[in-house]
Amino acid sequence: MSAPKTFTTAEVAKHTQRGDVWTVIHGKVYDISKFLDDHPGGEEVLLETAGADSTEGFEDVGHSEDARELLQKYYIGEVEGGKAAAPAKPTAAAPAPAQEQGGSCLIQ
Ligand code: HEM
Repeated sequence: MSAPKTFTTAEVAKHTQRGDVWTVIHGKVYDISKFLDDHPGGEEVLLETAGADSTEGFEDVGHSEDARELLQKYYIGEVEGGKAAAPAKPTAAAPAPAQEQGGSCLIQ
């Protein structure tokens, strides 16, 4: 059993551009770059939380079992601390800063 790869929130936050999009759902990191075109809900919602946590949006929609299985295809690892930076507000001029690793979270 090999340990999953772990990414910092800062690392995840770098992947926000079309063609290079990562997101975090329930502490797991997904590279959904190739999924944008195929998402039945459209690419816009995925780009909104690119490089950040999209757990809330994902759960709000009530995605099917199929959608959850699809996720596995894009899984690349775990996020350090179990949570990515909050998504940037649509009105924000600058991208949300990556959450700093405070060093206080010892849970792995
Ligand atoms: C990144 C992982 C995601 C995957 C693999 C995924 C997959 C899917 C799939 C397979 C469907 C078709 C319906 C179903 O099977 O449930 C769907 C629909 C939808 N998704 Fe996602 N989704 C993802 C993320 C998101 C996020 C983050 C949002 C919103 C914040 C979102 C919003 C929607 C909406 C609104 C629909 C309904 C589209 C419609 O029926 O008109 N999805 N998604």
